Amino acid sequence: MTIVLGLQWGDEGKGKILDVMAAEADWVLRAQGGNNAGHTVEIGKEKYVLHLVPSGILRSDVSCLIAGGAVVDPSGLVKEIEGLTQRKIRTRGRLHLAAQAHLVLPHHRAVDQGSEKRRGHGKIGTTGRGIGPAYSDKAIRVGLRAGELALPPAELARRLRERVTAHNRVARSQGWEKISATQTVREMAQAAKFLRPYLADGVTLAHRAVASGKRILIEGAQGTFLDVDHGTYPFVTSSHCTAGGACTGTGVPPTAIQRVVGVLKAYTTRVGGGPFVTEDGTLGHLLHGMGREFGSTTGRARRCGWFDAVLVRRAVQLNGVTEMAITNLDGLDGLEKIPVCVGYRLKGKILSEPPVESSDWAKCRPIYRVFEGWCEPTTEARHWRDLPRKARIYLSAIAGLVGAPLGIISVGAGREQTFRHG
Ligand code: IMP
Repeated sequence: MTIVLGLQWGDEGKGKILDVMAAEADWVLRAQGGNNAGHTVEIGKEKYVLHLVPSGILRSDVSCLIAGGAVVDPSGLVKEIEGLTQRKIRTRGRLHLAAQAHLVLPHHRAVDQGSEKRRGHGKIGTTGRGIGPAYSDKAIRVGLRAGELALPPAELARRLRERVTAHNRVARSQGWEKISATQTVREMAQAAKFLRPYLADGVTLAHRAVASGKRILIEGAQGTFLDVDHGTYPFVTSSHCTAGGACTGTGVPPTAIQRVVGVLKAYTTRVGGGPFVTEDGTLGHLLHGMGREFGSTTGRARRCGWFDAVLVRRAVQLNGVTEMAITNLDGLDGLEKIPVCVGYRLKGKILSEPPVESSDWAKCRPIYRVFEGWCEPTTEARHWRDLPRKARIYLSAIAGLVGAPLGIISVGAGREQTFRHG
Protein backbone atom coordinates (compact mmCIF):
# COMPACT_ATOMS: atom_id res chain seq x y z
CA MET A 1 0.00 0.00 0.00
CA THR A 2 1.24 3.47 -0.91
CA ILE A 3 0.54 6.88 0.59
CA VAL A 4 0.82 9.86 -1.76
CA LEU A 5 0.98 13.21 0.00
CA GLY A 6 2.27 16.77 -0.26
CA LEU A 7 5.58 17.85 1.29
CA GLN A 8 5.00 21.62 1.18
CA TRP A 9 1.85 23.76 1.59
CA GLY A 10 -0.43 21.92 -0.82
CA ASP A 11 -0.83 22.36 -4.58
CA GLU A 12 2.27 20.26 -5.22
CA GLY A 13 0.64 18.43 -8.13
CA LYS A 14 -0.67 15.43 -6.18
CA GLY A 15 -3.70 15.08 -8.47
CA LYS A 16 -1.52 14.62 -11.50
CA ILE A 17 0.90 12.21 -9.80
CA LEU A 18 -2.01 10.19 -8.36
CA ASP A 19 -3.62 9.98 -11.76
CA VAL A 20 -0.40 8.60 -13.25
CA MET A 21 0.12 6.16 -10.36
CA ALA A 22 -3.52 5.03 -10.49
CA ALA A 23 -2.69 3.26 -13.78
CA GLU A 24 -1.28 0.56 -11.49
CA ALA A 25 -3.85 0.67 -8.69
CA ASP A 26 -7.17 -0.98 -7.87
CA TRP A 27 -8.29 1.46 -5.19
CA VAL A 28 -7.68 5.14 -4.34
CA LEU A 29 -8.66 6.22 -0.84
CA ARG A 30 -8.98 9.91 0.06
CA ALA A 31 -7.87 10.19 3.67
CA GLN A 32 -8.70 13.69 4.95
CA GLY A 33 -9.69 17.26 4.11
CA GLY A 34 -12.76 18.37 2.23
CA ASN A 35 -13.63 20.45 -0.80
CA ASN A 36 -10.98 22.96 0.23
CA ALA A 37 -8.73 20.79 -1.95
CA GLY A 38 -8.48 21.13 -5.71
CA HIS A 39 -6.70 18.34 -7.55
CA THR A 40 -6.15 19.16 -11.20
CA VAL A 41 -5.68 16.41 -13.76
CA GLU A 42 -5.17 17.02 -17.49
CA ILE A 43 -5.76 14.17 -19.90
CA GLY A 44 -5.11 15.21 -23.49
CA LYS A 45 -7.20 18.33 -24.05
CA GLU A 46 -9.52 17.55 -21.13
CA LYS A 47 -8.97 19.23 -17.77
CA TYR A 48 -10.60 17.91 -14.57
CA VAL A 49 -10.56 19.65 -11.21
CA LEU A 50 -11.52 17.28 -8.39
CA HIS A 51 -12.29 18.54 -4.90
CA LEU A 52 -13.52 15.56 -2.93
CA VAL A 53 -13.63 12.66 -5.35
CA PRO A 54 -10.29 10.79 -5.46
CA SER A 55 -8.25 11.25 -8.63
CA GLY A 56 -8.53 7.51 -9.36
CA ILE A 57 -12.06 8.10 -10.65
CA LEU A 58 -10.56 9.09 -14.02
CA ARG A 59 -9.30 5.49 -14.54
CA SER A 60 -12.36 3.36 -15.30
CA ASP A 61 -11.11 0.21 -13.54
CA VAL A 62 -10.21 1.92 -10.25
CA SER A 63 -12.53 2.01 -7.22
CA CYS A 64 -12.53 5.07 -4.96
CA LEU A 65 -13.38 5.75 -1.34
CA ILE A 66 -13.84 9.08 0.41
CA ALA A 67 -12.70 7.81 3.79
CA GLY A 68 -13.88 8.62 7.30
CA GLY A 69 -11.13 11.17 7.94
CA ALA A 70 -12.51 13.46 5.24
CA VAL A 71 -15.26 16.05 5.77
CA VAL A 72 -17.95 16.14 3.14
CA ASP A 73 -20.11 19.00 1.96
CA PRO A 74 -23.06 16.93 0.67
CA SER A 75 -24.28 19.47 -1.92
CA GLY A 76 -20.71 20.06 -3.12
CA LEU A 77 -20.20 16.32 -3.57
CA VAL A 78 -23.49 15.96 -5.48
CA LYS A 79 -22.38 18.72 -7.86
CA GLU A 80 -18.99 17.12 -8.36
CA ILE A 81 -20.53 13.71 -9.11
CA GLU A 82 -23.02 15.30 -11.53
CA GLY A 83 -20.16 17.08 -13.30
CA LEU A 84 -18.32 13.78 -13.73
CA THR A 85 -21.47 12.04 -14.98
CA GLN A 86 -21.95 14.77 -17.59
CA ARG A 87 -18.43 14.02 -18.79
CA LYS A 88 -19.30 10.30 -19.05
CA ILE A 89 -17.33 9.23 -16.01
CA ARG A 90 -19.18 6.49 -14.13
CA THR A 91 -19.30 6.85 -10.37
CA ARG A 92 -22.07 4.42 -9.28
CA GLY A 93 -20.55 1.20 -7.98
CA ARG A 94 -17.05 2.74 -8.19
CA LEU A 95 -17.19 5.65 -5.78
CA HIS A 96 -17.95 5.04 -2.10
CA LEU A 97 -18.55 7.53 0.68
CA ALA A 98 -17.58 6.40 4.18
CA ALA A 99 -20.46 6.63 6.63
CA GLN A 100 -17.81 7.72 9.16
CA ALA A 101 -16.97 10.97 7.30
CA HIS A 102 -18.29 14.11 8.99
CA LEU A 103 -20.59 16.50 7.17
CA VAL A 104 -19.83 20.11 6.32
CA LEU A 105 -23.13 21.97 6.70
CA PRO A 106 -24.13 25.49 5.61
CA HIS A 107 -23.65 26.87 9.13
CA HIS A 108 -20.02 25.68 9.08
CA ARG A 109 -19.39 27.87 6.07
CA ALA A 110 -21.03 30.81 7.86
CA VAL A 111 -18.72 30.31 10.87
CA ASP A 112 -15.62 29.97 8.64
CA GLN A 113 -16.36 33.11 6.63
CA GLY A 114 -17.59 35.17 9.61
CA SER A 115 -14.56 34.25 11.73
CA GLU A 116 -12.15 35.15 8.94
CA LYS A 117 -13.80 38.55 8.55
CA ARG A 118 -13.39 39.17 12.26
CA ARG A 119 -9.71 38.21 12.22
CA GLY A 120 -9.02 41.07 9.79
CA HIS A 121 -5.28 41.36 9.07
CA GLY A 122 -4.52 38.26 11.14
CA LYS A 123 -6.77 36.12 8.99
CA ILE A 124 -5.70 32.61 8.06
CA GLY A 125 -6.84 32.95 4.47
CA THR A 126 -9.07 29.86 4.56
CA THR A 127 -10.93 28.66 1.50
CA GLY A 128 -14.18 29.64 3.24
CA ARG A 129 -15.59 26.15 2.71
CA GLY A 130 -16.41 25.50 6.38
CA ILE A 131 -13.63 22.96 6.85
CA GLY A 132 -12.28 24.17 10.21
CA PRO A 133 -15.71 24.48 11.87
CA ALA A 134 -16.73 21.00 10.63
CA TYR A 135 -13.58 19.44 12.11
CA SER A 136 -14.08 21.44 15.27
CA ASP A 137 -17.66 20.05 15.66
CA LYS A 138 -16.19 16.59 15.17
CA ALA A 139 -13.63 17.20 17.92
CA ILE A 140 -16.22 18.52 20.38
CA ARG A 141 -18.48 15.58 19.46
CA VAL A 142 -21.51 17.36 18.07
CA GLY A 143 -20.90 16.72 14.35
CA LEU A 144 -23.21 14.85 11.98
CA ARG A 145 -21.71 12.04 9.92
CA ALA A 146 -22.41 10.93 6.37
CA GLY A 147 -24.09 7.75 7.65
CA GLU A 148 -26.83 9.94 9.13
CA LEU A 149 -27.94 10.82 5.61
CA ALA A 150 -29.51 7.34 5.55
CA LEU A 151 -31.73 8.07 8.59
CA PRO A 152 -35.50 8.39 8.16
CA PRO A 153 -36.00 11.93 6.79
CA ALA A 154 -37.81 13.17 9.92
CA GLU A 155 -34.96 12.09 12.19
CA LEU A 156 -32.32 13.62 9.89
CA ALA A 157 -34.37 16.85 9.85
CA ARG A 158 -34.58 16.85 13.65
CA ARG A 159 -30.81 16.50 14.04
CA LEU A 160 -30.12 19.20 11.45
CA ARG A 161 -32.56 21.62 13.08
CA GLU A 162 -30.90 21.07 16.42
CA ARG A 163 -27.48 22.01 15.00
CA VAL A 164 -28.77 25.04 13.10
CA THR A 165 -30.67 26.29 16.16
CA ALA A 166 -27.52 26.00 18.28
CA HIS A 167 -25.64 27.99 15.62
CA ASN A 168 -28.28 30.70 15.34
CA ARG A 169 -28.40 31.13 19.12
CA VAL A 170 -24.86 32.56 19.13
CA ALA A 171 -24.52 33.71 15.51
CA ARG A 172 -25.20 37.38 16.10
CA SER A 173 -22.85 37.81 19.01
CA GLN A 174 -20.07 36.06 17.06
CA GLY A 175 -20.57 37.94 13.81
CA TRP A 176 -21.70 34.83 11.90
CA GLU A 177 -24.48 34.80 9.35
CA LYS A 178 -27.74 33.22 10.57
CA ILE A 179 -28.81 30.10 8.71
CA SER A 180 -32.29 28.95 7.72
CA ALA A 181 -33.05 25.57 9.28
CA THR A 182 -35.81 24.90 6.74
CA GLN A 183 -33.47 25.53 3.83
CA THR A 184 -30.74 23.36 5.39
CA VAL A 185 -33.22 20.50 5.90
CA ARG A 186 -34.47 20.81 2.31
CA GLU A 187 -30.96 20.94 0.84
CA MET A 188 -29.74 17.98 2.91
CA ALA A 189 -32.84 15.89 2.15
CA GLN A 190 -32.12 16.27 -1.56
CA ALA A 191 -28.43 15.51 -1.16
CA ALA A 192 -29.22 12.52 1.10
CA LYS A 193 -31.45 10.98 -1.54
CA PHE A 194 -28.71 11.34 -4.14
CA LEU A 195 -25.83 10.16 -1.96
CA ARG A 196 -27.46 7.18 -0.17
CA PRO A 197 -26.35 4.62 -2.80
CA TYR A 198 -22.75 5.74 -2.35
CA LEU A 199 -22.67 5.21 1.45
CA ALA A 200 -20.58 2.39 2.87
CA ASP A 201 -18.65 1.41 5.98
CA GLY A 202 -15.31 2.91 4.92
CA VAL A 203 -13.15 0.90 7.31
CA THR A 204 -14.63 -2.46 6.28
CA LEU A 205 -14.26 -1.58 2.60
CA ALA A 206 -10.62 -0.56 3.06
CA HIS A 207 -9.79 -3.71 5.03
CA ARG A 208 -11.50 -5.96 2.49
CA ALA A 209 -9.38 -4.36 -0.22
CA VAL A 210 -6.23 -4.94 1.88
CA ALA A 211 -7.16 -8.55 2.66
CA SER A 212 -7.80 -9.39 -0.99
CA GLY A 213 -4.38 -8.10 -2.01
CA LYS A 214 -5.66 -5.09 -3.97
CA ARG A 215 -3.18 -2.38 -4.96
CA ILE A 216 -4.16 0.63 -2.89
CA LEU A 217 -3.16 4.30 -3.02
CA ILE A 218 -4.03 6.61 -0.16
CA GLU A 219 -4.48 10.17 -1.42
CA GLY A 220 -3.49 12.95 0.94
CA ALA A 221 -4.97 16.42 0.46
CA GLN A 222 -3.35 19.80 1.26
CA GLY A 223 0.27 19.40 2.39
CA THR A 224 2.55 18.65 5.34
CA PHE A 225 2.85 22.27 6.52
CA LEU A 226 -0.92 22.71 6.53
CA ASP A 227 -1.20 19.78 9.00
CA VAL A 228 -2.94 20.94 12.18
CA ASP A 229 -0.17 19.44 14.36
CA HIS A 230 2.93 19.77 12.22
CA GLY A 231 2.23 22.80 10.05
CA THR A 232 2.81 26.53 10.51
CA TYR A 233 0.12 26.73 13.23
CA PRO A 234 -2.26 28.57 13.32
CA PHE A 235 -1.86 29.11 9.56
CA VAL A 236 -2.92 25.56 8.81
CA THR A 237 -5.98 23.57 7.83
CA SER A 238 -7.83 21.53 10.45
CA SER A 239 -6.92 17.98 9.46
CA HIS A 240 -3.84 15.75 9.55
CA CYS A 241 -2.20 15.99 6.13
CA THR A 242 0.81 13.85 7.10
CA ALA A 243 1.35 10.07 6.78
CA GLY A 244 -0.10 9.46 10.25
CA GLY A 245 -3.31 11.17 9.11
CA ALA A 246 -3.51 8.83 6.13
CA CYS A 247 -3.74 5.92 8.59
CA THR A 248 -6.22 7.48 11.04
CA GLY A 249 -8.29 8.84 8.17
CA THR A 250 -8.70 5.49 6.44
CA GLY A 251 -8.45 3.09 9.39
CA VAL A 252 -5.59 1.27 7.64
CA PRO A 253 -2.80 0.47 10.14
CA PRO A 254 0.74 1.85 9.72
CA THR A 255 2.07 -1.71 9.38
CA ALA A 256 0.16 -2.07 6.09
CA ILE A 257 2.05 0.82 4.44
CA GLN A 258 5.03 -0.12 2.27
CA ARG A 259 5.69 3.11 0.41
CA VAL A 260 5.29 6.84 1.02
CA VAL A 261 5.56 9.04 -2.07
CA GLY A 262 6.14 12.69 -1.16
CA VAL A 263 5.02 15.11 -3.87
CA LEU A 264 6.75 18.49 -4.07
CA LYS A 265 7.31 21.33 -6.47
CA ALA A 266 10.78 22.21 -7.76
CA TYR A 267 10.12 25.55 -6.06
CA THR A 268 7.61 26.52 -3.32
CA THR A 269 4.10 28.00 -3.24
CA ARG A 270 1.42 28.62 -0.65
CA VAL A 271 -2.02 30.21 -0.55
CA GLY A 272 -3.38 32.05 2.45
CA GLY A 273 -1.46 33.67 5.29
CA GLY A 274 1.47 32.42 7.35
CA PRO A 275 5.27 32.30 7.29
CA PHE A 276 7.07 31.64 4.02
CA VAL A 277 10.82 32.14 4.37
CA THR A 278 11.77 31.86 0.70
CA GLU A 279 8.89 33.94 -0.70
CA ASP A 280 10.04 35.99 -3.68
CA GLY A 281 7.83 38.48 -5.48
CA THR A 282 9.93 38.44 -8.66
CA LEU A 283 9.57 34.68 -9.03
CA GLY A 284 5.83 35.02 -8.32
CA HIS A 285 5.51 37.67 -10.99
CA LEU A 286 7.31 35.48 -13.50
CA LEU A 287 5.23 32.37 -12.76
CA HIS A 288 1.91 34.26 -12.75
CA GLY A 289 2.94 35.86 -16.04
CA MET A 290 3.29 32.35 -17.46
CA GLY A 291 -0.33 31.70 -16.35
CA ARG A 292 0.87 29.38 -13.58
CA GLU A 293 0.13 29.27 -9.88
CA PHE A 294 -3.48 30.29 -9.57
CA GLY A 295 -5.51 28.24 -7.03
CA SER A 296 -7.81 25.61 -8.55
CA THR A 297 -10.40 25.92 -5.75
CA THR A 298 -10.49 29.68 -5.16
CA GLY A 299 -8.65 31.10 -8.20
CA ARG A 300 -6.38 33.07 -5.87
CA ALA A 301 -2.85 33.84 -7.07
CA ARG A 302 -0.52 31.64 -5.04
CA ARG A 303 2.44 33.09 -3.18
CA CYS A 304 5.67 31.84 -4.75
CA GLY A 305 9.23 31.33 -3.58
CA TRP A 306 12.42 29.33 -3.97
CA PHE A 307 12.87 25.73 -2.94
CA ASP A 308 13.19 25.45 0.84
CA ALA A 309 15.28 22.44 1.82
CA VAL A 310 14.84 23.11 5.56
CA LEU A 311 11.09 22.75 5.14
CA VAL A 312 11.14 19.67 2.92
CA ARG A 313 13.78 17.91 5.05
CA ARG A 314 11.36 18.16 7.99
CA ALA A 315 8.52 16.87 5.78
CA VAL A 316 10.64 13.87 4.78
CA GLN A 317 11.19 13.06 8.47
CA LEU A 318 7.55 13.54 9.46
CA ASN A 319 6.18 11.32 6.73
CA GLY A 320 8.87 8.65 6.38
CA VAL A 321 9.10 9.45 2.67
CA THR A 322 10.49 6.51 0.68
CA GLU A 323 10.63 8.43 -2.63
CA MET A 324 9.83 11.86 -4.00
CA ALA A 325 7.80 12.99 -6.99
CA ILE A 326 9.08 16.41 -8.11
CA THR A 327 6.66 18.44 -10.22
CA ASN A 328 6.74 21.75 -12.09
CA LEU A 329 10.41 21.52 -12.97
CA ASP A 330 9.51 23.33 -16.21
CA GLY A 331 8.46 26.39 -14.15
CA LEU A 332 12.19 27.09 -13.66
CA ASP A 333 13.20 26.59 -17.31
CA GLY A 334 13.88 30.25 -18.12
CA LEU A 335 16.01 31.16 -15.09
CA GLU A 336 19.75 31.80 -15.14
CA LYS A 337 20.22 31.45 -11.39
CA ILE A 338 18.16 29.31 -9.02
CA PRO A 339 18.59 29.84 -5.27
CA VAL A 340 17.81 26.98 -2.86
CA CYS A 341 17.38 27.65 0.85
CA VAL A 342 19.76 25.42 2.83
CA GLY A 343 19.37 27.00 6.29
CA TYR A 344 17.60 29.75 8.23
CA ARG A 345 19.08 32.69 10.07
CA LEU A 346 17.17 33.75 13.19
CA LYS A 347 18.36 36.25 15.82
CA GLY A 348 22.03 35.74 14.91
CA LYS A 349 21.75 31.93 14.95
CA ILE A 350 21.81 29.50 12.04
CA LEU A 351 19.01 26.93 12.08
CA SER A 352 18.86 23.70 10.12
CA GLU A 353 15.38 22.89 11.49
CA PRO A 354 12.28 25.08 11.40
CA PRO A 355 11.37 26.87 14.65
CA VAL A 356 8.26 25.83 16.62
CA GLU A 357 6.52 29.22 16.68
CA SER A 358 5.06 30.69 13.52
CA SER A 359 6.08 34.16 14.70
CA ASP A 360 9.75 33.04 14.85
CA TRP A 361 9.38 31.23 11.55
CA ALA A 362 8.19 34.46 9.96
CA LYS A 363 11.34 36.23 11.17
CA CYS A 364 13.75 33.65 9.70
CA ARG A 365 15.89 34.77 6.79
CA PRO A 366 16.95 32.26 4.14
CA ILE A 367 20.54 31.14 3.57
CA TYR A 368 20.79 30.37 -0.12
CA ARG A 369 22.99 28.18 -2.23
CA VAL A 370 22.65 29.33 -5.82
CA PHE A 371 22.47 26.83 -8.68
CA GLU A 372 22.98 27.55 -12.35
CA GLY A 373 19.80 27.47 -14.40
CA TRP A 374 19.57 25.34 -17.54
CA CYS A 375 17.79 27.99 -19.65
CA GLU A 376 16.13 25.54 -22.04
CA PRO A 377 12.72 23.85 -22.09
CA THR A 378 12.34 20.57 -20.21
CA THR A 379 8.73 19.95 -21.27
CA GLU A 380 9.71 17.50 -24.02
CA ALA A 381 11.83 15.33 -21.71
CA ARG A 382 10.49 11.77 -21.38
CA HIS A 383 13.46 10.19 -19.58
CA TRP A 384 15.90 11.34 -16.91
CA ARG A 385 18.68 11.35 -19.53
CA ASP A 386 16.67 13.84 -21.67
CA LEU A 387 16.95 16.54 -18.99
CA PRO A 388 19.64 19.22 -19.33
CA ARG A 389 22.71 18.37 -17.22
CA LYS A 390 22.16 21.43 -15.00
CA ALA A 391 18.58 20.36 -14.28
CA ARG A 392 19.82 16.91 -13.24
CA ILE A 393 22.39 18.54 -10.97
CA TYR A 394 19.67 20.73 -9.42
CA LEU A 395 17.31 17.79 -8.77
CA SER A 396 20.04 15.51 -7.41
CA ALA A 397 21.22 18.29 -5.08
CA ILE A 398 17.69 18.77 -3.75
CA ALA A 399 17.38 15.03 -3.05
CA GLY A 400 20.70 15.11 -1.19
CA LEU A 401 19.72 18.17 0.87
CA VAL A 402 16.37 16.77 2.02
CA GLY A 403 17.47 13.16 2.48
CA ALA A 404 15.04 11.27 0.24
CA PRO A 405 15.52 9.60 -3.14
CA LEU A 406 14.11 10.95 -6.38
CA GLY A 407 11.36 8.73 -7.77
CA ILE A 408 9.20 10.59 -10.29
CA ILE A 409 9.90 13.78 -12.26
CA SER A 410 7.13 15.83 -13.87
CA VAL A 411 7.74 18.48 -16.52
CA GLY A 412 4.18 19.49 -17.44
CA ALA A 413 0.52 18.79 -16.81
CA GLY A 414 0.18 15.89 -19.27
CA ARG A 415 0.31 12.23 -18.25
CA GLU A 416 3.13 11.70 -20.75
CA GLN A 417 5.25 14.46 -19.20
CA THR A 418 6.11 12.20 -16.28
CA PHE A 419 9.02 9.78 -15.94
CA ARG A 420 11.03 7.91 -13.35
CA HIS A 421 14.48 8.93 -12.15
CA GLY A 422 17.42 6.98 -13.55
P1 IMP B 1 -9.06 25.80 5.13
O1 IMP B 1 -8.56 24.42 4.89
O2 IMP B 1 -10.08 26.24 4.13
O3 IMP B 1 -9.52 25.99 6.54
O4 IMP B 1 -7.83 26.81 4.93
C1 IMP B 1 -6.72 26.83 5.84
C2 IMP B 1 -5.42 27.09 5.08
O5 IMP B 1 -5.13 25.97 4.25
C3 IMP B 1 -5.48 28.29 4.14
O6 IMP B 1 -4.19 28.88 4.08
C4 IMP B 1 -5.81 27.68 2.79
O7 IMP B 1 -5.38 28.47 1.71
C5 IMP B 1 -5.01 26.39 2.89
N1 IMP B 1 -5.52 25.31 2.04
C6 IMP B 1 -6.60 24.53 2.27
N2 IMP B 1 -6.75 23.62 1.29
C7 IMP B 1 -5.72 23.80 0.45
C8 IMP B 1 -5.30 23.14 -0.75
O8 IMP B 1 -5.90 22.17 -1.21
N3 IMP B 1 -4.18 23.64 -1.35
C9 IMP B 1 -3.47 24.68 -0.83
N4 IMP B 1 -3.82 25.31 0.29
C10 IMP B 1 -4.93 24.88 0.93
